Amino acid sequence: MSRSAHPAGPRHADVLPEGHYSAPPADLNALDPKVWAQTVDRDEEGVVTVGGISVTQLAEEYGTPAYVLDEADFRARARAWRTAFGTDADVFYAGKAFLSRAVVRWLDEEGLNLDVCSGGELATALSAGMPADRIAFHGNNKSPQEIERAVRAGVGRIVLDSFQEIVRVAHIAQSLGKRQRVQIRITVGVEAHTHEFIATAHEDQKFGIPLAGGQAAEAVRRALQLDGLEVIGIHSHIGSQIFDMSGFEVAAHRVVGLLKDIRDEHGVELPEIDLGGGLGIAYTSDDDPREPHEIAKALTEIVTRECEGAKLRTPRISVEPGRAIVGPTAFTLYEVGTVKPLEGLRTYVSVDGGMSDNIRTALYDAEYTVALVSRTSDAEPMLTRVVGKHCESGDIVVKDAFLPGDLAPGDLIAVPATGAYCRSMASNYNHALRPPVVAVREGEARVVVRRETEEDLLRLDVG
Ligand code: LLP
Repeated sequence: MSRSAHPAGPRHADVLPEGHYSAPPADLNALDPKVWAQTVDRDEEGVVTVGGISVTQLAEEYGTPAYVLDEADFRARARAWRTAFGTDADVFYAGKAFLSRAVVRWLDEEGLNLDVCSGGELATALSAGMPADRIAFHGNNKSPQEIERAVRAGVGRIVLDSFQEIVRVAHIAQSLGKRQRVQIRITVGVEAHTHEFIATAHEDQKFGIPLAGGQAAEAVRRALQLDGLEVIGIHSHIGSQIFDMSGFEVAAHRVVGLLKDIRDEHGVELPEIDLGGGLGIAYTSDDDPREPHEIAKALTEIVTRECEGAKLRTPRISVEPGRAIVGPTAFTLYEVGTVKPLEGLRTYVSVDGGMSDNIRTALYDAEYTVALVSRTSDAEPMLTRVVGKHCESGDIVVKDAFLPGDLAPGDLIAVPATGAYCRSMASNYNHALRPPVVAVREGEARVVVRRETEEDLLRLDVG
């Protein structure tokens, strides 16, 4: 996304500094539905509401910072993915984006499956009653204890990530007298157009077994010989926050090529193929994500076409969207603590959270927007940088954003599209207390993950 500096005047600078911003929006009070959760609106006093509850009421009851999650939106997005893929395919929500027991129940009710990637996520899923056979277990270094727990629980699939893991899972399953359903994760050699840290299909990285050099074929060869394993398919995840479908096209082509080779060599047609997650969402008005039905249509067409070409039965497709379901459904509510104009530069707005509740800006140079939500304002736009309260200058939540020039301590501002990878990557840096997740629906709010307390911190510190 390329944006240019804009010459229109903010309050505190004659010439705008370099930055990632375009013109100030025509109406700073407007809330672009692309980036805000579905039920977000303003009431007649100009206060933002979500699920029929005002942010001022939420701040009063639950404090700030807080992640506010629109349950109706979450369910609608989950359902849209489920409906788009139909009954011949499976949608596994990627729990790493955000997982709590309430979320697990919503997914179960909406007919989605669940992808977990650690013992902790598995425990959360099982404790909320997700049927084990609808859970996929991921990870590039699952511990023997995690594997044993997953096999004992009866998870629907374990996604194998290395030669050693193939043997490890087979051994554990066999020693428990079980045959574990597995997929083998391969890297297809696609360069996904996203940040380096979240691209996963090029070969020089830690995930999967490379297709190149026949390694993936060798992994399948070995897995097929092991009694403890039932090889059900091949898995490919090319990266995250991707808008361009061409990477998936290449991946599907190469995965189907491997299925064909397996059929030719072993006489076995593997019944499933998983194309991973990674579909992008709108963080700013410049992003144009695809709808689930377009994605489903595109992926199904690619796989069907490739299989016809290879004279293979079309396998059952599964996908693992995380961000695309939960990302847009939440915003982070902050209270402004200080407003510091730097002459000729920009105005620094400090909020009561920061990199401990949203590391994505510091880690991936991610872009977000922000809005004043406790009131409207007709003041001139000013160029701001929204920063946290942590002890480092990289503690930035929103790099460049316009807020009303009369912004003052005590105002509430909110950063939309923080549902994915914010609470789940939150930290206790500077002994910050991780914010709660408050779910709202039809005029009711309830805490689904409570705010941490100083007692929580001290309980871990055993002196
Ligand atoms: N499946 C697998 C095997 C994955 O590794 C991931 C994400 C997903 C599905 C879900 O991807 P999604 O649909 O959410 O893009 N912390 C980073 C994202 C890391 C993604 C890791 N794997 C971020 O904040 O952007």
